[in-house]
Amino acid sequence: MSGDHPRLSHLPALGDASVRAPGPSHEEVVDHPMRRITREIAFDPDGWGPARAAKVAEVFDGLAPTWHEIAGGDGRLEPLRDALDRGGVDGTGVCLELGSGTGSATALLAERFDVVLASDLSLEMLRRAAEEPAVRVQADACRLPVRTGAAHAVVLMNMFLFCTELERVLRPDGALVWISSLGDRTPIYLSPAEVLEALGTHWQGVAGRHGEASWCVARRRPS
Ligand SMILES: C[S@@+](CC[C@H](N)C(=O)[O-])C[C@H]1O[C@@H](n2cnc3c(N)ncnc32)[C@H](O)[C@@H]1O
Repeated sequence: MSGDHPRLSHLPALGDASVRAPGPSHEEVVDHPMRRITREIAFDPDGWGPARAAKVAEVFDGLAPTWHEIAGGDGRLEPLRDALDRGGVDGTGVCLELGSGTGSATALLAERFDVVLASDLSLEMLRRAAEEPAVRVQADACRLPVRTGAAHAVVLMNMFLFCTELERVLRPDGALVWISSLGDRTPIYLSPAEVLEALGTHWQGVAGRHGEASWCVARRRPS
């Protein structure tokens, strides 16, 4: 292991980090409300509740009609492809894509996994996603309609980290795939080291960068 966290190894960066997609500046994102909410959900057991869920759903319902302008950019899926390849996620079994939005990553996941369940809190996001090739479900990622240990992989692309529910739905040997499309300019952002910190000491991970995006693939440590 090397780098900024004892349970995290870093792979060489790929792509051109100077190419930047439209989005907030570093200065703007520091005080972004989604930043604070992301940290509270990851680190505080009381960071999420019905009132916050309703507010977040309302925000993303409002963003849904124009989300394709953000999510459709050239190369936006390359970091996910890289994370699956270099993070050693082989694509066997069931993938849960949480916070799937308008489904920009779902087809790629469906190419890799036997089954993809794509889920989002926002009905307006889900309505704009293609029906195929995944099963789509409106659900809150803090309480999923999925049996314990069902998932071989959970993919969170620009999405909140609900540690307790992740622990429940992911198989013991399963992988969490965390993608921040704009790197540390992503509003819903944790660094790979923060992801491991939130998950706890029984997790380890590998981190990479692709262009300006950052990613982390985390798994439980062998006991
Ligand atoms: C920043 S968008 C990312 C969408 C997509 N993954 C992408 O990268 O284009 C975050 C998504 O997470 C969804 N979301 C937020 N909170 C959620 C929750 N508790 N459960 C499920 N989805 C949630 C939002 O509705 C939104 O579609």
